[in-house]
Amino acid sequence: MGLLMSEMIGHRGVASLAPENTLAGIRKAAELGLEWIELDVTLLGDGTAVMFHDPRLNRTTNGRGHLKKQTLAAIKSLDAGSWHSEHWCGEKVPELDETLSLIKELGLGLNLELKPNRCDLHRLVGQVITALEQADFPAEKLLVSSFNHKALVLFRGRSEHRIGCLFETLSRSWSHKAQQVGAVSIHVNAEKLTEAGAKAVKAGGYELYCYTVNDTQLLSRLKSWQVDGVFSDCPRNLERCL
Ligand code: G3P
Ligand code: MG
Repeated sequence: MGLLMSEMIGHRGVASLAPENTLAGIRKAAELGLEWIELDVTLLGDGTAVMFHDPRLNRTTNGRGHLKKQTLAAIKSLDAGSWHSEHWCGEKVPELDETLSLIKELGLGLNLELKPNRCDLHRLVGQVITALEQADFPAEKLLVSSFNHKALVLFRGRSEHRIGCLFETLSRSWSHKAQQVGAVSIHVNAEKLTEAGAKAVKAGGYELYCYTVNDTQLLSRLKSWQVDGVFSDCPRNLERCL
Protein backbone atom coordinates (compact mmCIF):
# COMPACT_ATOMS: atom_id res chain seq x y z
CA MET A 1 0.00 0.00 0.00
CA GLY A 2 1.21 3.49 -0.89
CA LEU A 3 2.44 5.97 1.65
CA LEU A 4 2.40 9.01 -0.62
CA MET A 5 -1.28 8.91 -1.56
CA SER A 6 -4.11 6.49 -0.77
CA GLU A 7 -4.97 3.15 -2.39
CA MET A 8 -8.00 4.71 -4.05
CA ILE A 9 -7.73 8.17 -5.59
CA GLY A 10 -10.82 9.88 -7.00
CA HIS A 11 -10.14 10.54 -10.69
CA ARG A 12 -10.92 14.13 -11.78
CA GLY A 13 -12.75 14.41 -8.43
CA VAL A 14 -15.04 11.42 -8.64
CA ALA A 15 -15.94 11.50 -12.30
CA SER A 16 -18.71 8.91 -12.46
CA LEU A 17 -20.75 10.60 -9.73
CA ALA A 18 -20.23 14.32 -10.32
CA PRO A 19 -18.91 16.45 -13.19
CA GLU A 20 -15.14 16.15 -13.49
CA ASN A 21 -12.81 18.87 -12.25
CA THR A 22 -15.55 20.80 -10.43
CA LEU A 23 -16.07 21.90 -6.83
CA ALA A 24 -19.15 19.63 -6.73
CA GLY A 25 -16.91 16.70 -7.62
CA ILE A 26 -14.50 17.57 -4.84
CA ARG A 27 -17.33 17.75 -2.30
CA LYS A 28 -18.71 14.44 -3.56
CA ALA A 29 -15.32 12.77 -3.14
CA ALA A 30 -15.11 14.01 0.45
CA GLU A 31 -18.67 12.84 1.11
CA LEU A 32 -17.70 9.34 -0.07
CA GLY A 33 -14.81 9.32 2.37
CA LEU A 34 -12.04 9.46 -0.22
CA GLU A 35 -8.77 10.84 1.15
CA TRP A 36 -7.11 11.78 -2.15
CA ILE A 37 -8.34 13.13 -5.47
CA GLU A 38 -6.72 13.86 -8.81
CA LEU A 39 -7.53 17.03 -10.77
CA ASP A 40 -6.20 18.64 -13.96
CA VAL A 41 -5.00 22.24 -14.08
CA THR A 42 -4.47 24.36 -17.18
CA LEU A 43 -4.50 28.01 -18.29
CA LEU A 44 -7.14 30.14 -19.99
CA GLY A 45 -6.11 32.58 -22.71
CA ASP A 46 -5.98 35.39 -20.14
CA GLY A 47 -3.55 33.38 -17.99
CA THR A 48 -6.01 32.31 -15.27
CA ALA A 49 -5.33 28.83 -13.90
CA VAL A 50 -8.48 26.68 -13.98
CA MET A 51 -9.36 23.03 -13.45
CA PHE A 52 -10.05 21.47 -16.85
CA HIS A 53 -9.06 18.33 -18.74
CA ASP A 54 -9.70 18.84 -22.46
CA PRO A 55 -8.22 21.45 -24.82
CA ARG A 56 -11.76 22.24 -25.97
CA LEU A 57 -14.92 23.25 -24.11
CA ASN A 58 -17.28 20.99 -26.02
CA ARG A 59 -17.39 17.77 -24.00
CA THR A 60 -17.70 19.10 -20.45
CA THR A 61 -19.45 22.47 -20.81
CA ASN A 62 -22.24 24.03 -22.83
CA GLY A 63 -19.62 26.14 -24.66
CA ARG A 64 -17.70 25.53 -27.89
CA GLY A 65 -14.13 26.10 -29.03
CA HIS A 66 -10.70 26.17 -27.45
CA LEU A 67 -10.20 26.78 -23.75
CA LYS A 68 -7.00 28.72 -24.43
CA LYS A 69 -9.02 31.40 -26.24
CA GLN A 70 -11.28 32.05 -23.23
CA THR A 71 -11.22 34.75 -20.56
CA LEU A 72 -12.23 34.10 -16.98
CA ALA A 73 -15.48 36.07 -17.42
CA ALA A 74 -16.41 33.98 -20.47
CA ILE A 75 -15.61 30.66 -18.82
CA LYS A 76 -17.58 31.57 -15.69
CA SER A 77 -20.69 32.11 -17.81
CA LEU A 78 -20.62 28.45 -18.90
CA ASP A 79 -22.44 25.48 -17.38
CA ALA A 80 -19.95 22.72 -16.57
CA GLY A 81 -22.46 20.42 -14.87
CA SER A 82 -25.48 19.75 -17.11
CA TRP A 83 -23.52 17.55 -19.53
CA HIS A 84 -23.08 15.10 -16.64
CA SER A 85 -26.69 15.25 -15.45
CA GLU A 86 -29.41 17.83 -14.76
CA HIS A 87 -28.67 17.50 -11.05
CA TRP A 88 -25.41 19.42 -11.56
CA CYS A 89 -26.87 22.17 -13.71
CA GLY A 90 -25.12 25.50 -13.14
CA GLU A 91 -21.84 24.03 -11.87
CA LYS A 92 -18.92 26.23 -12.93
CA VAL A 93 -15.37 25.63 -14.14
CA PRO A 94 -13.39 26.40 -10.97
CA GLU A 95 -10.24 28.50 -10.71
CA LEU A 96 -7.21 26.89 -9.12
CA ASP A 97 -7.32 29.28 -6.15
CA GLU A 98 -10.86 28.40 -5.06
CA THR A 99 -10.16 24.73 -5.69
CA LEU A 100 -7.14 24.70 -3.40
CA SER A 101 -9.10 26.53 -0.68
CA LEU A 102 -11.92 23.98 -0.77
CA ILE A 103 -9.58 20.98 -0.81
CA LYS A 104 -7.64 22.39 2.11
CA GLU A 105 -10.83 23.08 4.03
CA LEU A 106 -12.03 19.50 3.45
CA GLY A 107 -8.63 18.08 4.42
CA LEU A 108 -8.24 16.09 1.20
CA GLY A 109 -4.99 15.15 -0.50
CA LEU A 110 -4.49 16.43 -4.04
CA ASN A 111 -2.68 14.96 -7.01
CA LEU A 112 -2.50 18.06 -9.19
CA GLU A 113 -1.87 17.14 -12.81
CA LEU A 114 -0.30 19.91 -14.89
CA LYS A 115 -2.16 19.75 -18.20
CA PRO A 116 -0.52 22.29 -20.52
CA ASN A 117 -2.68 21.60 -23.61
CA ARG A 118 -0.29 23.89 -25.51
CA CYS A 119 -0.42 26.78 -23.07
CA ASP A 120 2.79 28.55 -22.02
CA LEU A 121 4.60 26.13 -19.69
CA HIS A 122 6.50 28.81 -17.77
CA ARG A 123 3.27 30.68 -17.14
CA LEU A 124 1.40 27.55 -16.06
CA VAL A 125 4.12 26.50 -13.63
CA GLY A 126 4.40 30.05 -12.29
CA GLN A 127 0.65 30.32 -11.72
CA VAL A 128 0.52 26.96 -9.96
CA ILE A 129 3.41 27.80 -7.66
CA THR A 130 1.91 31.18 -6.78
CA ALA A 131 -1.49 29.62 -6.04
CA LEU A 132 0.03 26.90 -3.85
CA GLU A 133 1.97 29.52 -1.90
CA GLN A 134 -1.02 31.82 -1.50
CA ALA A 135 -3.20 28.94 -0.31
CA ASP A 136 -0.42 27.79 2.02
CA PHE A 137 -1.31 24.33 0.78
CA PRO A 138 0.11 21.56 3.02
CA ALA A 139 3.06 19.83 1.31
CA GLU A 140 2.18 16.39 2.69
CA LYS A 141 -1.25 16.63 1.03
CA LEU A 142 0.12 17.43 -2.43
CA LEU A 143 1.69 15.50 -5.27
CA VAL A 144 2.22 17.26 -8.60
CA SER A 145 2.32 15.22 -11.82
CA SER A 146 2.34 15.65 -15.58
CA PHE A 147 2.78 13.79 -18.85
CA ASN A 148 4.76 16.85 -19.93
CA HIS A 149 8.32 16.31 -18.76
CA LYS A 150 9.39 19.87 -19.49
CA ALA A 151 6.63 21.16 -17.22
CA LEU A 152 7.93 18.93 -14.42
CA VAL A 153 11.52 20.10 -14.97
CA LEU A 154 10.35 23.72 -14.74
CA PHE A 155 8.29 22.95 -11.64
CA ARG A 156 11.22 21.20 -9.95
CA GLY A 157 13.42 24.22 -10.71
CA ARG A 158 11.09 26.39 -8.65
CA SER A 159 9.52 24.12 -6.05
CA GLU A 160 10.39 21.34 -3.63
CA HIS A 161 6.90 19.83 -3.71
CA ARG A 162 6.67 16.10 -4.42
CA ILE A 163 6.52 15.09 -8.06
CA GLY A 164 5.10 12.02 -9.80
CA CYS A 165 5.98 11.24 -13.43
CA LEU A 166 2.99 10.34 -15.60
CA PHE A 167 3.38 7.94 -18.50
CA GLU A 168 1.05 6.32 -20.97
CA THR A 169 3.49 3.40 -21.11
CA LEU A 170 6.87 2.88 -19.46
CA SER A 171 9.33 3.93 -22.15
CA ARG A 172 13.08 3.25 -21.94
CA SER A 173 13.65 6.74 -20.55
CA TRP A 174 11.17 6.55 -17.65
CA SER A 175 13.80 6.09 -14.96
CA HIS A 176 16.06 8.84 -16.32
CA LYS A 177 13.12 11.25 -16.45
CA ALA A 178 12.06 10.37 -12.91
CA GLN A 179 15.58 10.94 -11.59
CA GLN A 180 15.87 14.23 -13.44
CA VAL A 181 12.92 15.73 -11.54
CA GLY A 182 13.46 13.89 -8.26
CA ALA A 183 10.14 12.06 -8.62
CA VAL A 184 8.77 9.98 -5.77
CA SER A 185 6.16 8.10 -7.80
CA ILE A 186 5.39 6.78 -11.26
CA HIS A 187 1.86 6.92 -12.67
CA VAL A 188 1.03 4.64 -15.60
CA ASN A 189 -1.96 3.65 -17.72
CA ALA A 190 -3.29 0.53 -16.00
CA GLU A 191 -4.08 -1.25 -19.26
CA LYS A 192 -0.53 -0.81 -20.56
CA LEU A 193 1.41 -1.73 -17.43
CA THR A 194 3.19 -5.10 -17.50
CA GLU A 195 4.29 -7.17 -14.52
CA ALA A 196 7.94 -6.58 -15.50
CA GLY A 197 7.29 -2.84 -15.67
CA ALA A 198 5.69 -2.83 -12.23
CA LYS A 199 8.67 -4.74 -10.81
CA ALA A 200 11.14 -2.30 -12.33
CA VAL A 201 9.33 0.71 -10.87
CA LYS A 202 9.16 -0.84 -7.41
CA ALA A 203 12.80 -1.96 -7.61
CA GLY A 204 13.71 1.64 -8.40
CA GLY A 205 12.22 2.65 -5.05
CA TYR A 206 9.22 4.53 -6.49
CA GLU A 207 5.59 4.21 -5.53
CA LEU A 208 3.40 3.09 -8.42
CA TYR A 209 -0.06 4.43 -9.22
CA CYS A 210 -2.29 3.45 -12.16
CA TYR A 211 -5.07 5.21 -14.05
CA THR A 212 -7.96 4.77 -14.75
CA VAL A 213 -9.26 1.71 -12.94
CA ASN A 214 -13.00 1.11 -12.90
CA ASP A 215 -13.29 -2.65 -12.72
CA THR A 216 -12.46 -5.21 -10.09
CA GLN A 217 -10.56 -7.63 -12.33
CA LEU A 218 -8.08 -4.99 -13.37
CA LEU A 219 -7.70 -3.84 -9.77
CA SER A 220 -6.98 -7.38 -8.58
CA ARG A 221 -4.27 -7.81 -11.23
CA LEU A 222 -2.61 -4.53 -10.28
CA LYS A 223 -2.74 -5.33 -6.60
CA SER A 224 -1.01 -8.66 -7.24
CA TRP A 225 1.78 -6.60 -8.85
CA GLN A 226 2.14 -4.46 -5.71
CA VAL A 227 0.69 -1.32 -7.29
CA ASP A 228 0.34 1.24 -4.49
CA GLY A 229 -2.86 2.89 -5.59
CA VAL A 230 -5.26 3.54 -8.46
CA PHE A 231 -7.17 6.47 -9.89
CA SER A 232 -10.85 5.61 -10.27
CA ASP A 233 -13.97 7.32 -11.61
CA CYS A 234 -16.18 5.05 -9.53
CA PRO A 235 -14.32 4.04 -6.35
CA ARG A 236 -17.47 2.65 -4.72
CA ASN A 237 -17.62 -0.24 -7.20
CA LEU A 238 -14.10 -1.24 -6.27
CA GLU A 239 -14.32 -0.98 -2.48
CA ARG A 240 -14.84 -4.69 -1.96
CA CYS A 241 -11.47 -5.40 -3.60
CA LEU A 242 -9.42 -3.27 -1.21
O1 G3P B 1 -3.32 11.58 -13.53
C1 G3P B 1 -3.90 10.39 -13.94
C2 G3P B 1 -4.81 10.58 -15.13
O2 G3P B 1 -5.69 11.63 -14.85
C3 G3P B 1 -4.07 10.86 -16.40
O3 G3P B 1 -4.90 10.90 -17.52
O4 G3P B 1 -6.19 12.02 -19.29
O5 G3P B 1 -7.31 11.42 -17.17
O6 G3P B 1 -5.67 13.28 -17.21
P1 G3P B 1 -6.07 11.95 -17.79
MG1 MG C 1 -5.66 13.82 -15.12
